[in-house]
Amino acid sequence: MTGPAEFCITTLKSQFRGVSNLITIDRRASKPLYQQIYDSFRSRIIRGELRAGDLVPSSRELARESRISRLPVLTAYAQLLAEGYFESRVGAGTFISSSLPSRSGSSPSVARGQRLLSAQVAALPKYERPSWAESLGPFQVGQPELQKFPIEIWLKLIARYSRRMRLKALQYADAMGLPELREAIATYLRTSRGVRCEAQQIMVVSGSQQALDLATRVLLEAGRAAWVEEPGYWLVHHVLKAARCRIVPVPVDEEGLSVTAGIRLNRNARAAFVAPSHQYPLGVTMSAARRLQLLEWAQRSRAWIIEDDYDSEYRYGSLPIASLQGLDGNSRVIYIGTFSKVMFPSLRLGYLVIPVDLIERFAAMRQVMDICPTHITQAVMSDFIREGHFARHVRRMRPIYAERRRVLVAELERQLGDHVTIMGDQAGMHLAIFLTPGRDDRKIAVTAARQSLWLSALSSSYVGKKPRHGFVLGFGNTKANDIPQAVWHLKKLIC
Ligand SMILES: Cc1ncc(COP(=O)(O)O)c(C=O)c1O
Repeated sequence: MTGPAEFCITTLKSQFRGVSNLITIDRRASKPLYQQIYDSFRSRIIRGELRAGDLVPSSRELARESRISRLPVLTAYAQLLAEGYFESRVGAGTFISSSLPSRSGSSPSVARGQRLLSAQVAALPKYERPSWAESLGPFQVGQPELQKFPIEIWLKLIARYSRRMRLKALQYADAMGLPELREAIATYLRTSRGVRCEAQQIMVVSGSQQALDLATRVLLEAGRAAWVEEPGYWLVHHVLKAARCRIVPVPVDEEGLSVTAGIRLNRNARAAFVAPSHQYPLGVTMSAARRLQLLEWAQRSRAWIIEDDYDSEYRYGSLPIASLQGLDGNSRVIYIGTFSKVMFPSLRLGYLVIPVDLIERFAAMRQVMDICPTHITQAVMSDFIREGHFARHVRRMRPIYAERRRVLVAELERQLGDHVTIMGDQAGMHLAIFLTPGRDDRKIAVTAARQSLWLSALSSSYVGKKPRHGFVLGFGNTKANDIPQAVWHLKKLIC
């Protein structure tokens, strides 16, 4: 017989009471016979079709009925015994294990209805991969120019690391990160970002996202209020939703987050999440007056400020703005930075600057999350910085992004004129445009995406009910030569 052989357990003598299903064996299948027998029994037990205490046919009988040799049956039975699905009783035979929990034969759809999840995950919106995960195209937000990254140097450093790798690199390490990378980051932040810090305050994390989550876990708990910028970074909203915190959207104007409005809305909030150097998505820089007002509120209300400094390496027309953390005399600011924009996003490397008295608490929570950062990326990154490649790459990219931004602003003004208002083009790799009232940015973005134009709808960055409509236009990964055509394309969609 060459086709599937069915061993009907019910056809065996009545001693096999309750065992009523089939063991299907297909001799032509590539799956070995013992595996087919094992899988058949196991899935019927899991589905509740074979119950605890049911007698299993002897290996000899199963082999004979199925017209196969006894060896695969013995192998499958040995495995089922070893894993505890079967048990043998001396002199009585082999049985479905009596210690298995009883399972009703409920259908899978009924079982799925009973899958209880946490309130944290229930609070999160549906997961969607960002557009840039699908393919690259004009105006994608958050993307640096990847083609100009010195990949050969990076690969050489990885190769060198691999050749010299020590046993020590294989061990669990410090939750704070690799000492030489923390040292390099602290030096960079002191000299380039005006951050007041020592290496001991630096914690290496897997991008700002982990830093935002970690800071929330350490500083807030369910039910606590936190200010967020309105509009603001959508993944900050998700972090706070997952932590079951109360989100207090505080309006942003040309000077950044309105501290007066925040105090009016909820003066007792535990934290404020801000991006003062280049606000996301509007791109404004927080004024000195607002910075001082925010620090004063934090000190008075014993609140924390989480400063997200995600893309301030690039500034056009003025010198880089010093961090808010550098102004803070009371250690109320947790500073967060990332290598996603200056290097590449899949690197997943970022850092926190933690007030000295909180270092141990942050380390304790970090240990819960992933114990410690990966060794290889930290070691190669510190070589990349120490040998000057990092500073060189930033220097090289500055005029390239400046030119892209210049062309984009000029083209928007030339081609779109009164149809849009531009905001936040003084730093970073994106700017925002507002549409004239009555336009629906999400609808336009859906149509644009079908034509490979990646427009990020401004209204998605709002928590409140009255969003403004417009787009966040990334120019980091849009070549200057491609910008006029992309703006023409945009014009077709919005005019
Ligand atoms: C406001 C803001 N913060 C942080 C990040 C960077 O996140 P990560 O370091 O996790 O890649 C982004 C990315 O686009 C961002 O827009």
